[in-house]
Amino acid sequence: MSASPLLEVRDLRTHFFTRAGVVKAVEGVSFSLEKGEILGLVGESGSGKSVTGFSLIGLVDPPGRIASGSIKFEGRELVGLPPAEMRALRGKRIAMVFQDPAATLNPVLSIGQQMTLAVQAHGRASDAAARDLAARTLTRVGIPDAAARLDAYPHEFSGGMRQRVAIATALLHGPDLIIADEPTTALDVSIQAQILAEMKSLAKETGTALVWISHDLATVSSLADRVLVMYAGRIVEAGAVGETLRAPRHPYTRGLLDSLPAMARPGEKLNQIPGTTPSLLSLPPGCPFAPRCPRADAVCATDPPDVVTASRLVRCHHPLEAA
Ligand SMILES: Nc1ncnc2c1ncn2[C@@H]1O[C@H](COP(=O)(O)OP(=O)(O)O)[C@@H](O)[C@H]1O
Ligand SMILES: [Mg+2]
Repeated sequence: MSASPLLEVRDLRTHFFTRAGVVKAVEGVSFSLEKGEILGLVGESGSGKSVTGFSLIGLVDPPGRIASGSIKFEGRELVGLPPAEMRALRGKRIAMVFQDPAATLNPVLSIGQQMTLAVQAHGRASDAAARDLAARTLTRVGIPDAAARLDAYPHEFSGGMRQRVAIATALLHGPDLIIADEPTTALDVSIQAQILAEMKSLAKETGTALVWISHDLATVSSLADRVLVMYAGRIVEAGAVGETLRAPRHPYTRGLLDSLPAMARPGEKLNQIPGTTPSLLSLPPGCPFAPRCPRADAVCATDPPDVVTASRLVRCHHPLEAA
């Protein structure tokens, strides 16, 4: 066992160099992840969650690129890695599951054909051995009668089943890290809960670490060990999931929790955070949440400090009291 974490991200900046200007989608993100750990990455739409995920797996396309920072996977620097070496890691050691399984599944190939190709992309395997591995992996994600269903095409599966196939494809090589970007958002609640439970036991059984990207705090609270809250490309709060969501210290995390339907009493209006997420094209200096924040004052026009306690990080001039 090495002492270094599975993944260590330091001061990551991923920018899009557009004709309108530089969109700073990820702006100084740092975190680490241990083997088998499940990290929830939450925040409103446009906060930089997906771009963070794409950065980790080396899939940021022009006009975007990693402008600076470091991503170490098992101690090996991924920023600046030659594309061929990144491709060798992708799918094998680090896999990604997208919100829409159509991004992964090819409509003209049977499930068995495409999973066989995925197996053979990273090593020699006979068709029979690859199909066998595909069937066993489909069984692990809760697809009944998997061997018989290998000859089905994606359109013959329900949305929930297609997403299970995408997850199984990510699991084929026993990756060390899976980045899942809103993989259950399009599914109904009961299927979502089932997939969450399966992902959690898989991570714990196999030691696969998981970065679970979601705008849904409820999902993350039932799945993750730790949570990172993102706003305007930055991490504004990070900590153990139970404690952080029970007693948030950043006013933005508080606002996200207060806007959950489960928090409102029947007949009461939801407490939406006022205003909208800022454009990442030209943020004024200081705390990007200040214009929407009930606690903001003049000092918030300067960059907020990182307030670090035993198990929590809060980037705020006026954090809420620790519980
Ligand atoms: N190809 C692109 N060109 C320009 N800006 C982009 C591109 N992709 C993403 N962005 C910007 O990056 C920011 C973060 O996006 P994203 O990571 O998709 O947010 P989230 O996943 O949290 O909803 C957004 O402001 C978005 O407009
Ligand atoms: Mg996204």
